[in-house]
Amino acid sequence: MGSAAVFTLDICDDPFCVGQRTVPCLTSRIRYTRRTFYATIAAIVKGRIAMLKGKTILLGVTGGIAAYKAAELTSLLVKAHACVHVIMTKNATQFINPITFETLTGNKCITDTFDRGFAFEVEHISLAKKADAAVIAPATANVLAKLAHGLADDMLTTTLLACDCPKLAAPAMNTRMYENPVTQDNLAALQRYGWRLIEPASGRLACGDSGKGKLADVTDIFEAILQETAFPHDLAGTRILVTAGPTQEAIDPVRYITNRSSGKMGYAIARMARLRGADVTLVAGQTALQDIPGVEMVKIRSAADLFREVTARAPQQDIVIKAAAVADYRPAAVAEEKLHKKDDDLSLTLERTEDTLQYLGDHKRPGQLLCGFAMETSDLEERAAMKLRKKNLDMICANNVKVEGAGFAGDTNVITILTGEKKVQLEKMTKEEAAGHILDELLLLRGQGDNA
Ligand SMILES: Cc1cc2nc3c(=O)[nH]c(=O)nc-3n(C[C@H](O)[C@H](O)[C@H](O)COP(=O)(O)O)c2cc1C
Repeated sequence: MGSAAVFTLDICDDPFCVGQRTVPCLTSRIRYTRRTFYATIAAIVKGRIAMLKGKTILLGVTGGIAAYKAAELTSLLVKAHACVHVIMTKNATQFINPITFETLTGNKCITDTFDRGFAFEVEHISLAKKADAAVIAPATANVLAKLAHGLADDMLTTTLLACDCPKLAAPAMNTRMYENPVTQDNLAALQRYGWRLIEPASGRLACGDSGKGKLADVTDIFEAILQETAFPHDLAGTRILVTAGPTQEAIDPVRYITNRSSGKMGYAIARMARLRGADVTLVAGQTALQDIPGVEMVKIRSAADLFREVTARAPQQDIVIKAAAVADYRPAAVAEEKLHKKDDDLSLTLERTEDTLQYLGDHKRPGQLLCGFAMETSDLEERAAMKLRKKNLDMICANNVKVEGAGFAGDTNVITILTGEKKVQLEKMTKEEAAGHILDELLLLRGQGDNA
């Protein structure tokens, strides 16, 4: 037997964490040969955007029935490579055990202001200084009242009083407690003091009542944390309209013509633009994707719907990015009743749909930027450059559906960005990374980007 080098990589095996990570983890070690080790590292680096790498998030968990959902939030933060410190109120430990958070984060979960079992540091001050963002999820009526009045009678409220990083609270409580004017006054006071509130949802509450007071969706809370910490707000004040997904052109009441667009590219652009502070409207065809928190969602079916919704909103936009795969043709007549099978073949007459991109190019207002997409199977750059000129675009993102890692359904794309003067060839990367580059190039066109 030869003495082949053996490498080790820490593997996270907790049930919430699906992936491998290179940071130390409370888990067993796995042995790799040199080849599998490097392949694994390459997969980690390529496949994931470590959006919260290097960020410290302070998570406060308080004594509400939704405390168990804080474990899922912790897992999302850890997967995005954040260093997470959890502080629980004493009452929160009645609902969920601190060991859950210690296992997920690898950090001690603090529950006691006067705990003497740690290295000497004034812990509430050191944590407050370290944090890039502090979030309370769920936030009880009690803790909101204390924070609104500057009380500091436990480790969580004491630490938060010393924090000057962005602070977020996700209230969760019975509707009557939430609607009580005293709670509403406390929430208003916290907003005045700079807190960002993540509105509770409406629905059936654990106590059996129905109404507003459910903890906001954990992914919405995660998104708000990303927005506060992970991205420059270089698109703040910019209005961006994005289109995404396929259109459906009806043949009869049960059939339609469509295409293979998943909507992932347009959704990624809308999400990244929102995270960078833009006011985003997403006009989306029928997709399997979830709505994006903080984005105005406009759902459409046909090319005619898309034309109507986009052209009505375009004049108010600073940037329009058209990533939707819009049908060029639709059935000239839509049958009112279901078409029944006959022995003969069936021919459909197709007519041209509205050309939304051409309309937008022809009606572009001064200062507005228009970005199109070109999905081709051959002569990619020539066709894209022609479309850029013909439709009066400022930028076009060309991708060849036949290239490995590019195109509709996958999570990656291979894009060539063309402007009047410039060509940027992006490597294969996640659609969210590609979205970041597209937004950077648009900022450069506005004379706002970093050319260094
Ligand atoms: C079963 C149960 C569920 C509770 N759920 C909530 C809740 O969702 N929201 C809330 O504000 N209070 C809730 N409370 C009341 C809080 O636990 C109570 O106000 C406590 O003092 C909060 O302490 P803390 O803010 O220090 O964690 C609940 C109490 C019990 C017994």
